[in-house]
Amino acid sequence: MVKEYIIESGNPKNKYLKVSIPGAKNSILPILAATMLLPSKVKLFNVPKINDINNMIKIIISLGGTVVWNDDFLEVDCTAIIGQKISFSLTEKVRSSILLVGPLTVIFGKSIIGLPGGCRLGLRPIDIHVNGLRSFGIKTSKENNKLVSQSTGLKPASYNLKFPSVGATEHLLITSLLIKGESILNNIALEPEVLDLINFLKLAGADILRSQRRLKIEGGNKLSINQYRVIPDRIVAASWITAAVITRTNLQLLDFPKKLLCDFLSVLKLIGVDIEYSENDILISCPDKLSPFNITTGPFPEFSTDIQPFMAIIACTIKGISRISELVYENRFQYAEELKKLGADIQINEKTLYINGDRRLVGCTVIGKDIRGTAALGLASLISDGETKLVDVGFISRAYEDFDKLLESFGAKVKSVI
Ligand code: EPU
Repeated sequence: MVKEYIIESGNPKNKYLKVSIPGAKNSILPILAATMLLPSKVKLFNVPKINDINNMIKIIISLGGTVVWNDDFLEVDCTAIIGQKISFSLTEKVRSSILLVGPLTVIFGKSIIGLPGGCRLGLRPIDIHVNGLRSFGIKTSKENNKLVSQSTGLKPASYNLKFPSVGATEHLLITSLLIKGESILNNIALEPEVLDLINFLKLAGADILRSQRRLKIEGGNKLSINQYRVIPDRIVAASWITAAVITRTNLQLLDFPKKLLCDFLSVLKLIGVDIEYSENDILISCPDKLSPFNITTGPFPEFSTDIQPFMAIIACTIKGISRISELVYENRFQYAEELKKLGADIQINEKTLYINGDRRLVGCTVIGKDIRGTAALGLASLISDGETKLVDVGFISRAYEDFDKLLESFGAKVKSVI
C-alpha cells in the first residue's frame, strides 16, 4: 500500500484536458448493501477499484455472498447469504457496513455487527439509524465495539429523520423494503447518491414514491434487476475541476450530468470561472483573476461538505478573504492546519475558515487526516513551489482509483513511497 506521495509541482504539458469520471463510491456502497434484497445476481457497471468498495465486498463475501470483478462490471450474488455476524475488523474499515444491520436483522431475526468506521470527521453518532430501526421493530444495543440487533415484532412504520442523514435514509429505505406494508420516511436526504439508490431499487421493481423529502414505500415486494450503471462520482469530478481551476487549465468532463454538481458549479460561476455545457459534457475554463466567496455546507442541494476542502484550495489562489463555514461535521478542518504549513493564510474560528489567498504556497511535509482533506492537500501541491511530501495517503486509495495520475495530468511529478 502506498504510504506517501512526493509531489513536485510543474507546468501542465497540456492546457486542454478531457476526462471521464468513474462511478460514485457513495452510490455503489449502498447499492452493494441493497443487493441483499435480490433473489438473483446483478451486474454493476462503472465501479472503480477503490478500497472502500473492496472492503464492502469483503464483508459481502464474509456473509456467504459471491462477488466477481470483470473487465467492465462487478457481479454480485447475495442469494446464498448465511451470515448474520460481521466482525469489527471488517466494519471499522468502511462506514457503509452499518447499512447491513437492518436487512440482516430482518432476514435472520438477529445480527451482531461491528460498529462502523470511516473518516474521523466528528462525533458521527448513529442515533438516527438506531431510532429508525426501532420504529420498524428492530431493537439494537451496543456491546463493546458491536451492535447487537434483534427483531421484536417487525412492522411497517412512519419515521421522521431529525436530520436528513444520507446513510440513515439509505439504511431505513433498504430495511423498509423487506417489511410487508406501507412505510413513510420523512426528512430524507436528497444527495444524488441517495436518489441513485432509489433509482436502482425502483428499476428492481420496488414500490417507492418520492415527494420532496418524503418517501412512501410499499415493502414486501419481490425485487429483481440484471444490471445497473451507477452515476459518476461528483466528488472525484470536483477534484478534477479544482485542479483545473487552481492551475488555470481548460477541462472537459465527458458525459457528466451537471445537476450532480449544481452546488459547486454555481459557486464557481459566481467567482468568475467560465462554465459551458455541450451536449452532456461540462467545459471549464478559468481567467487569472477570480473573486473571493462565502460558502456554508449543508445537506444537498446546499453546498457539499465533501467539496468544501477543495474550495479552500481554490481560495488560496484568489486575492481577498474567502469564508467557508462547515455545518455538517464538527471536525472537518483538520486539513486547514496542514494547509497553513504550506504557507496558506488561514484563520480558523470554530466552524468557519477565513482564507486570504494572496500568498504563494511552498512545498513541505503535510499529513492526511481524512479522504477529502488529504485529496485537497494533494491538489494544493499543484500550486506549491518545489516538493510537497504528502504523508498518510492511504485515505486517498479509499476513494480514488489513481489520484497520482490526476496530479500528473496537471504537470506534477509524483513519486509513490510504499
Ligand atoms: N448524524 C447523526 N446521527 C446519525 C447519522 C448522522 O447525528 O444517526 C449526523 C452525522 O454525525 C453528521 C451528519 O449527520 O454530522 C451527516 O451524516 P450523514 O449520515 O448524512 O453522513 P454519512 O451517511 O455517514 C455520507 C457520505 C459521506 C458524506 C456524508 C454527507 C457515504 C458512504 N458517505 O456519510 O462521504 O460526507 O454522507 O454528505 O455515503 C466521503 O465520501 O469522503 C464521505 C465522508
